[in-house]
Amino acid sequence: MTASVSSYDVLVIGAGAAGLMCAIEAGKRGRRVAVLDHAERAGKKILISGGGRCNFTNLHCRAENFLSENPHFAKSALARYTPRDFLSLVEKHGIAYHEKKLGQLFCDHSAQQIVDLLLHECAEANVTLHLRTQVNQVRHSGGFELDTITPQGPVTFHAPALVIATGGLSIPRMGATGFGYDVARQFGLRVIEPRPALVPLVLGEAGQRDWCQLSGLSAEVIASTSTPGAQRARFQEKMLLTHRGLSGPAVLQISSYWRPGASLTLDLAPRANITAPLLAQPQRDISKARAALREHLPQRLADRLITLAPPSSFSNRALEAWEEHLHHYRFTPTGTEGYEKAEVTAGGVDTAELSAKTMESRIPGLYFIGEVVDVTGHLGGFNFQWAWASGAAAGRAV
Ligand code: FDA
Repeated sequence: MTASVSSYDVLVIGAGAAGLMCAIEAGKRGRRVAVLDHAERAGKKILISGGGRCNFTNLHCRAENFLSENPHFAKSALARYTPRDFLSLVEKHGIAYHEKKLGQLFCDHSAQQIVDLLLHECAEANVTLHLRTQVNQVRHSGGFELDTITPQGPVTFHAPALVIATGGLSIPRMGATGFGYDVARQFGLRVIEPRPALVPLVLGEAGQRDWCQLSGLSAEVIASTSTPGAQRARFQEKMLLTHRGLSGPAVLQISSYWRPGASLTLDLAPRANITAPLLAQPQRDISKARAALREHLPQRLADRLITLAPPSSFSNRALEAWEEHLHHYRFTPTGTEGYEKAEVTAGGVDTAELSAKTMESRIPGLYFIGEVVDVTGHLGGFNFQWAWASGAAAGRAV
């Protein structure tokens, strides 16, 4: 069967958050845009995001909320498409929303409303959507040619501009692929080794024996990591014990900074002075230490700590050392739960290959946006804000 040929001004591969935003902005400028995706529906990750309510942005979005080999790269796009810009779209579509905490905005009802918003805006901007479309080959000869298999048969798409918005490797069962990295490598662009991020951490055998019976238990901690050479970070939020290790927002956040071999430090009782009541008493013993700990931690966690890490004695010096230990408690994870459980993929197309203003690579006409780029947000709506901002930057330039 010979392929039919379809020509556009802009081809976008990936009908996720970044790809759809790019298509809207380019379409509004009168560009003829086609979005291609192998999935049967657009915006699948948006639908499962934020527990089905989509944490679609964060009001306090700053460059510090992103990891990248170049921490300055995201600034330009983030400044030119802000959380308020996306919020005005949400309000234009009459979508009810609320701030859950720390500037995190969620839909009151359903993430489907965000997908509907994007599809509605795409239709208004005359964007053509080709779902269930497999891209087999990307060729570059003047413009870009894509050999595809669509539900109607083989089609060769042609355009002078190609935008790669295929996301990262997280959640392969939802159709995540390394396609974007392969295209970057095909064109000789550097890819920073992708790795799972915002992901639960796994403890070794001994750690699991010590802690995992407490699976389901959570406590507010400050998590930090001492990975040599990596960006420093600390997060005060909940930690959750799981049947294989550690999770909860504090651990998910720090997991993006953690590297194999490094340890995690947890302050198990932020700002608390656990031993003060003990030091004030002349009679001190293990049951008083347990009671002091139970004042600040869930009972079962306090009891486990007393078993695993009791004070070495009840002298002032030993209690002070114990206090210090509880504020700098170390875990050494053996790994992560991997892409199956990772909310995002860190690493990706090296920002040194891209224009911070337009997302165009050093191959003229070839753009990369969203999660496929080496810009990874913290938990809390930052990854979508990057998808909107990088998508808008490319959409205004293509
Ligand atoms: P995205 O992954 O959204 O889209 C990529 C598209 O490319 C997909 O439609 C895919 O089918 C398509 N594709 C991939 N390979 C292809 C190929 N070879 N050929 C054709 N098409 C291909 N973030 C946030 O800010 N707030 C939140 O509440 C959440 N919640 C959340 C929950 C869960 C469970 C996950 C897994 C992730 C989140 N995130 C999040 C992260 C957020 O979903 C993510 O960062 C963005 O969706 C990234 O947008 P992109 O458009 O870059 O990729």
